[in-house]
Amino acid sequence: MQIRVNERWWTVNAAPETPLLYVLMNELQLQGPRFGCGLAQCGSCSVLVNGVESRSCVTPLSAIEGKSITTLEGLPAWYATQKKLAKVPALHPVQQAMIDEQAVQCGYCFNGMIIKSSELLSKTPRPTEAQIRTAMNGHLCRCGTYPRIMKAIQRASVAMAGGAR
Ligand code: FES
Ligand code: FES
Repeated sequence: MQIRVNERWWTVNAAPETPLLYVLMNELQLQGPRFGCGLAQCGSCSVLVNGVESRSCVTPLSAIEGKSITTLEGLPAWYATQKKLAKVPALHPVQQAMIDEQAVQCGYCFNGMIIKSSELLSKTPRPTEAQIRTAMNGHLCRCGTYPRIMKAIQRASVAMAGGAR
């Protein structure tokens, strides 16, 4: 089967019922999406499917036929396409904001945190705190860095609007 991941076509050998996460990790050797719960409960495996955050641990390969998958590795290019930027930045503004706010501890949850908040800001550029809380509700951080994650998303929102913070 052929799948489109990070704007590139890949031929994969896994059976159609195989979870997308296993294919991304084992066949494509991508290290952004992580295995956490395997039950669509934590968000560490999140990817964008046609721009919508999806849990790759419970998404069978057959469900993504003809769709465009973006993983953490492809996020800066996805952002550049959205914003029609001439050059792909090294990091998506959310990634940069997470660094600037020193939000990461162990880092295990951050694939999902970044994927989800990128999706949020693509649809709602200036979210309220309540909107951020609602959007991020299904993403669990065992280190409890939620306050810094909140600040980072707010910082990225300002940066994406062209402001400095
Ligand atoms: S590993 Fe997919 S949601 Fe937890
Ligand atoms: S930083 Fe450790 S799980 Fe979130």
